[in-house]
Amino acid sequence: MKIAVLVSGSGTNLAAMIKRRIPIGLVLADRPCPALQIAAKAGIPTSLLNRHDFGYRLNVGEAWNRKGFTQAVTQTLSINHIELIAMAGFFTVLHAGIFQTFGGRILNSHPSLLPAFKGAHAVEDALQANMPETGTTIHLVTTALDDERYIVAQAKVPIHPDDTVATLWERIKLKEHRLYPQVLHDILSGHINLAQLKEGAS
Ligand code: GRF
Repeated sequence: MKIAVLVSGSGTNLAAMIKRRIPIGLVLADRPCPALQIAAKAGIPTSLLNRHDFGYRLNVGEAWNRKGFTQAVTQTLSINHIELIAMAGFFTVLHAGIFQTFGGRILNSHPSLLPAFKGAHAVEDALQANMPETGTTIHLVTTALDDERYIVAQAKVPIHPDDTVATLWERIKLKEHRLYPQVLHDILSGHINLAQLKEGAS
C-alpha cells in the first residue's frame, strides 16, 4: 500500500514514521517547511504545492482557491498512485472534493482526546480548561472538522501544573510518535481493517 504523508511544519511525526520504517511513497507539503527537508534527507520523493500560489493569505477567509488547491493535491496523489494518506501536522483544511477520490483513506493526528478540544488550539484549550489529562487521537478525516466518529487510536498524557503549551505539546508529540507509526503498521499488516474504517466515512 503506497502511503503519502501530508505536512506543513516541523515534521517530527514524519521523522518518527521514517524511523519506524513506514514505507512512505511521497511527502507533500502546502508550504516550504522543515518536514520537506526531513523527507528529502531520507530519500523520499517530495512535492511542494504552495497554497500561496492558490491565493491563500492570512485572513482572506474563503477568498482563496481552496478547491483548486485540493484538486492539485488530489491529482498529485493520484499520479503517484497513493492509496493511503497520513496527515501529520498538515495545516490546510482540504475541500470536500478530496473525498471523491480518497474518502475513508485519509488519517490525521489531532493533539487532544477527541471529541474534546477540536480545532487549531487544542493544546492551549486543554491547558486553559484545567483538565487533568489530554492526549492524541488518530482518526479518519471526513468533511466534519476533527471528526470523532472514526477514531482509530487514542493515547492519554497527564497535564502537569507547571505546563506551558510548549511543554504539554511536546509530551503529546512523544505519544504521537509512537502511536501514529503503530497505527500505520497495523493498517499495513491488516490488524486494522481499512475497509472497516472506510465504512460510513464521507
Ligand atoms: C502534531 O502535534 C499533530 O497532532 C498536529 O500537528 C502537530 C505536528 O507536529 N496536527 P510535527 O510537524 O509532526 O512535528
